[in-house]
Amino acid sequence: MKLKHIIESQQFTVPSLYDLFERADQMKKIVKRGGTRDYQNKVMATLFYKPSTRTRFSFESAMYRLGGSVLSTEQAKEFSSEIEGENLEDTIRIISNYSDVIVLRHYEEGGAKRAAAVSPVPIINAGDGSGGQHPTQALLDLYTIYSECKTLDGLSVAFVGALDQGRTVRSLAYLLGKFDRIKLYFIAPLEMTIKNDILEYLDERGVSYQLADSTDGIINRVDVVYQTRIDKKRLINKDVKLSQYNIDKNVLSKMKYNSIIMHPLPRSVEIDPAVDTDPRAAYFRQAENGLYVRMALLTMLFENEE
Ligand code: CP
Repeated sequence: MKLKHIIESQQFTVPSLYDLFERADQMKKIVKRGGTRDYQNKVMATLFYKPSTRTRFSFESAMYRLGGSVLSTEQAKEFSSEIEGENLEDTIRIISNYSDVIVLRHYEEGGAKRAAAVSPVPIINAGDGSGGQHPTQALLDLYTIYSECKTLDGLSVAFVGALDQGRTVRSLAYLLGKFDRIKLYFIAPLEMTIKNDILEYLDERGVSYQLADSTDGIINRVDVVYQTRIDKKRLINKDVKLSQYNIDKNVLSKMKYNSIIMHPLPRSVEIDPAVDTDPRAAYFRQAENGLYVRMALLTMLFENEE
């Protein structure tokens, strides 16, 4: 499968996902050996209009470990010509002259699609808007599930948090929906439940799912808990106790011994640091995997150009 841009997770087929994961395994070995110079003629631009730690640093590390170079702006709203009124399309046209791939985090849903429409070089969506997508996060999430659970079929996965605005959850739900006998649980305060477009997609594919506003009776039987933040300020119904969605040692004691806890990070209070040392806490391994999967994606895009 030859992709020009990476905009949304639906672009990936099941065979292309397994290919990508094999490539990520190879990248892990390459990093252990100290990297490669194979891509020393490649330049990657990271254009971030919103803050990031994991996505930007892991992409930049990925490019350096492949032997390439990086052009970066971490606060493009302020430090790019947008401040002079330049539109996204013109900025992309300009930066594409200086780089072979552009990694873009934009504040508007659809920002990456707009960029791809005018860009002669690949655009990678590093997160668009609050309710858009974050496909490379979903790919590293799926790779983590595959690495930890040794399968992607027959799994039960609980998504917990403010799911209406969770672009990582949205992207991962699209990917998980491609596998067999998957059961998804979307657990959120009622006013922050997952949006209908995801449910319609799952219905079309015959994927089994359940909506709930509590983890009770679910957390003890799932293979994966995918925890996300809930912004207290967004809550309209002040009677909702957000602490009921948090994971602490008490919740952990109810989970299956071979389940895993994931989080795209950064976390706030929703996972107690006391949980970090439990082998089921997979979120730091998940963040590490971001490096290997993003190296794999960059090499895939560069090879597609050949
Ligand atoms: N998970 C994630 O996208 O983290 P950053 O916002 O730090 O990139």
